Amino acid sequence: MNIRGELRVPGDKSISHRAFMLGSLARGSTTVSGALGSKDVASTRRVLEALGARIEEKGGTWLVTGGDLREPSTVLDAGNSGTTARLVSGICAAIEGVSVMTGDSSLVTRPMGRVMRPLGKMGAQFLARQDRHLPMAVRGGRLTGISYGMDVASAQVKSAIILAGLKAEGSTEVTEPFPSRDHSERMLSYFGATLARGGNSVGLEGPQELEAREVSVPGDPSSAAFPAVWAAATPGSEALIREVCLNPTRIGFIPVLKRMGAVITLENVREVCGEPVGDILVRGAVLQGTIIEGEEIPKLIDEIPILAVAACLAEGRTVVRDASELRVKETDRIKALVEGLASLGAGAEETPDGLVIEGPLKLERGSVRTYSDHRIAMSFHILSRAAGIDVAIDDPGCVDISFPGFFELMETLA
Ligand code: S3P
Repeated sequence: MNIRGELRVPGDKSISHRAFMLGSLARGSTTVSGALGSKDVASTRRVLEALGARIEEKGGTWLVTGGDLREPSTVLDAGNSGTTARLVSGICAAIEGVSVMTGDSSLVTRPMGRVMRPLGKMGAQFLARQDRHLPMAVRGGRLTGISYGMDVASAQVKSAIILAGLKAEGSTEVTEPFPSRDHSERMLSYFGATLARGGNSVGLEGPQELEAREVSVPGDPSSAAFPAVWAAATPGSEALIREVCLNPTRIGFIPVLKRMGAVITLENVREVCGEPVGDILVRGAVLQGTIIEGEEIPKLIDEIPILAVAACLAEGRTVVRDASELRVKETDRIKALVEGLASLGAGAEETPDGLVIEGPLKLERGSVRTYSDHRIAMSFHILSRAAGIDVAIDDPGCVDISFPGFFELMETLA
C-alpha cells in the first residue's frame, strides 16, 4: 500500500542522551528542547539524577543543572539502553568512589568489555559479571589520558573514552577503523570543549570544563527511516519528513535507497546546535536489490532492519555484509530478521555478518517474534503495511524505547 503525507518524527535519541549528559557535566543551567520522550532517554535522565544532576521539565523544555556529579547511593539502572550504559561508564570512570550499574534482561547480555578495557587503561577499576557484562561496578577517580585504537567502529565506545578524557590529566586520542556517528564531538564543541579531529581520530587535552548551553534536538533520522522506506518501496508514494537530523554519519540509508531506485531530496538544510537539520522528501519506485557493506555500515547500522524490509519489497538480490555488530544490539538482529521472515513464509539467508534477501519475497500472514527489540517491531510493521499482509507483532509496546506514538503516526500516512 502506498502513502502520501507530511510528518515530523520524535527527537533524535543519540542527541537527546548526550544533551542530558553534557548538561549534567557542565556548570550552570542547560535547556533541552525537542528531546525524545522515550524509555531509553528516561533511563539516562534517571541515572544522571542518581549521580547528582537536577533535571526538571517545564512545558516540554528540560532544564538540566549540572556540575558536581558524585558517587551514587543507589544502583544505576540503564534499562534497555546501551548508549546510557556505555557513555555513563565513561562519566563514572572520572567520579571519585564506586558506581554500580545494571540494566534489563537484554542489556545485561550486551558486551561491556569494549568500554572496560580503555577506561581501565585510563585508571578506572571494574568488577563485572563474567568480566564483561552488567551488573558492573566501577571505582572511578583520577584518570590519565590514553591513545587508543578501537577494533570496532562504535560511537558508544568512542564517546565513553572522550567523556572520561574530558576529566583525565593529559591527552586522550581515540581512533576508529571507520567513522561512527559524531554527535559527542559536535556537542562537546558546542558546549565549549576543544577537540582535535582528523581522519578517523579525535583527540582532546584534559581536564576541560563545559559551559551550559541551549540545545534544540532535531528529529531522529533512525525514526525517519521507517516512513522513508515505506514511501521509497511503494510506487506512487510521497512522504515529506520535516526537521530531521541530517548528520552524514547517520543518514547512510538515504544513498542506499537512492541506489535502489527511490527519488529522495533533502530540503531546507541548515545548522542547528552544531548539527545539520532539514527535510527529507521521498518518492517511491520499484526498488532494485543492492549490496550494503564496509565503511557504509556504521552510518546505517540501526537502519539495517528497515533496509532489509526495502530489500524484501525490491527486485533482485540484496546482500548485507560486515555487519556482525547487529548480533550484539538490543537482540541479535540478523537472527530476528531471518526468523521473522521465515514466520511469514519467506526465506532469507543468514550469514555470520549479515544476510541475503532475494526479492521480491512472497509473504504470507503470520506472527513475528520481536525479542522486545523496538527496531525489529517497527520494521515488521512497515513490511506488513507496505506489502498489505497481516503481521501480528508479539510485543508492540517495545516501540516506546525509541519511537513513542509510532503506530498512530504511521496511520496518518496511510
Ligand atoms: C549509538 C551508537 C550505536 C547505535 C546506537 C546508538 C549512540 O551503537 O547502534 O543505537 O548513540 O552512540 P554502537 O556504538 O554500539 O555502534
